[in-house]
Amino acid sequence: MADKKRVAVLISGGGSNMMTLAQDMLGDPSHPGTPVLVLSNIADADGLAKAQDLGIATQVIDQKSHASREEFDASLNDALRQAAPDVICLAGFMRILSPVFVNAWDGKVLNIHPSLLPKYKGLHTHARAIEAGDPEAGCSVHRVTAGLDEGPVLGQAHVDIEPDDTPETLASRVLVQEHLLYPAVLRRFLGGNEGHLRL
Ligand code: GRF
Repeated sequence: MADKKRVAVLISGGGSNMMTLAQDMLGDPSHPGTPVLVLSNIADADGLAKAQDLGIATQVIDQKSHASREEFDASLNDALRQAAPDVICLAGFMRILSPVFVNAWDGKVLNIHPSLLPKYKGLHTHARAIEAGDPEAGCSVHRVTAGLDEGPVLGQAHVDIEPDDTPETLASRVLVQEHLLYPAVLRRFLGGNEGHLRL
């Protein structure tokens, strides 16, 4: 198999999306990618230990020790340049990245967002969908561009909203779909396929 593409994953919390991406890559010798770094902006993110248990290198760029967004992004870029990823996956990474970052890695950054973009960019996506009386919710994997949750959508998974749903019950069903969607889109993206995947 040709050299595998190098994948860095950025997290801020539990890292369940990072785990599904890593296990998909590590569990399939024919997978086009390999995880080379899991990096968090939060020093005690639970996902860091999970990545270490899988033998993946981890790093923290602590947002608390940077005065500005640009300074943080410059440190982040230095760390990533060391890892030299072909693709960077944001996975539960709860930070808005400045143009300093986006421009440095243009076209190589994916993110998973828990809504059917372009609806509900930003936070509290499930509460907003329920509040609006939408019949369905879901998640989207998109390329990261300078605008928040703005880039081209590469894949989506749809989940019906039930009458008795709370944001928490809906989020738990959407998360199951995130764990299916993100690995599928990453495989396609690493193979040069940016077509839209609908699960
Ligand atoms: C997920 O719902 C993801 O869509 C959002 O963060 C949540 C937790 O992600 N961005 P993870 O378990 O840390 O991957």
